Amino acid sequence: TTHRIQDRSLESRDGLPELGSAAIPSVPGRFRNTPDTDMSTPANQAWADAITHRLRGSRIGVDEAQQIRVESIEGVDQVLTRALEAQKEWAALPAAKRAAVLRRVARVLAEHRAELLEVAASETGKTLEQGDPEISEAIDFALYYADQAEKLEADPETVFTPRRLTLVTPPWNFPIAIPTGSMLAPLVTGSAVVMKPAPQARRCGAYLGRLLHEAGVPGGVLTVIDVPEDETGKALITDERVDQLILTGAYETAELFASWRPDLRILAETSGKNAIVVTPHADLDLAAKDVAASAFGHAGQKCSAASLVIAVGSVARSRRFMAQLADAVLSLHVGEPTDATVQMGPVIEPPGEKLAAGLTELGEGETWLSRPRQLDQEGRLFTPGVREGVKEGSAFHLTEYFGPVLGIMHAPTLEDAVRMQNGTAFGLTAGLHSLDPAEIAWWTENVEAGNLYVNRGITGAIVERQSFGGWKRSAIGKTAKAGGPNYLVHLMDAADRERDA
Ligand code: SER
Repeated sequence: TTHRIQDRSLESRDGLPELGSAAIPSVPGRFRNTPDTDMSTPANQAWADAITHRLRGSRIGVDEAQQIRVESIEGVDQVLTRALEAQKEWAALPAAKRAAVLRRVARVLAEHRAELLEVAASETGKTLEQGDPEISEAIDFALYYADQAEKLEADPETVFTPRRLTLVTPPWNFPIAIPTGSMLAPLVTGSAVVMKPAPQARRCGAYLGRLLHEAGVPGGVLTVIDVPEDETGKALITDERVDQLILTGAYETAELFASWRPDLRILAETSGKNAIVVTPHADLDLAAKDVAASAFGHAGQKCSAASLVIAVGSVARSRRFMAQLADAVLSLHVGEPTDATVQMGPVIEPPGEKLAAGLTELGEGETWLSRPRQLDQEGRLFTPGVREGVKEGSAFHLTEYFGPVLGIMHAPTLEDAVRMQNGTAFGLTAGLHSLDPAEIAWWTENVEAGNLYVNRGITGAIVERQSFGGWKRSAIGKTAKAGGPNYLVHLMDAADRERDA
């Protein structure tokens, strides 16, 4: 999807070039993915430069925040009461009406692509290169779930009933796409939504809330709130009126929330420790490029990121592969998102204990192929780290670091490699680079992860084509996959039409 052409014209609007037509290519019922901005055209480069220029003094989202600050338990009560009141009318609408609102959301998001990139970059350090596909994904969620809701309502055998109140707690690392998808899916089913943005992405959340309301999502039906991390957050989750929770974050967080409310329906997409296996039958140049992009895009701060590469047989001894990988990694342009050509931006905050260890401490037998260097005073900008000789069962094999560091493991055979790939507590994404059909078939049968990618990077799942969700400790609710045909079904209650006949 990154290669389609989309030119944006350069009429000025407050110093920001206007998006071309901001055209939505899909027609209702016939979903198509939204193209990313083609940064190779001069017009789009100028568009990106204008965004980075504004970024240097960005205040977007601050003045425009329409988040509701909820300081007390009574405040939580008021928000939920208002949401449930508004939900009645919303749920009574035909699905086509709610779907129409989602299609307007898609249009509004497309029209505000530049502002969304700006707020994500200014608040979370997301580079333009990484932010742009996120906006496309958010638009895709809107268009895709609109179609899906209409299909479900037309189902001849089953009546789907919405749950009344959905709480959404998205992460900071995809501050646009994940909150958008997590809000719109329950909304289009007829549920009311209360969204609590991640503390590091409050402005993104507030800005998204504003755009959704602008597109026609009624006030009470969606509330974006800002609660301090204390009793008010817990009050929200433990309130019996909340029917379900859509959470993306650490597995421990999902477990904690589940312990507070054992009866709560939870759809959680959680942690990962993902590996790409490279066999001697791989296109090694392609593998090196895909590993580098999957490991260091957004500075490795993706649950889907590649944190291990498992080199099989002769690949482990291939000087060419190691040199290609080192080259791909070291040529990544590291810097602040105020430069539109930056490929790897900062980490969200100076590394805590775990990531600091991942960036500095080598395990037994490990050596640096590329040692991470801190580039700034504050400790948020690092050059990519690559360690060789990671042993099966070691700390680096099993721990999610969520930052710019990759480990190389060696496996004698593909069977050994898959054992290592399956050997962690998680099962989110997994990759294989091989051009051998028998290897591909065997691997696909035996690897334990929600999202499998062959001869491609392992981040950036595409709505409809690669519905997204994990196994093992990468999820609660393994069968619900975002951006896929069964996602809305998991958010609703189903009854047989025959039963009522
Ligand atoms: N959906 C994202 C990806 O595929 C991760 O949340 O990279």
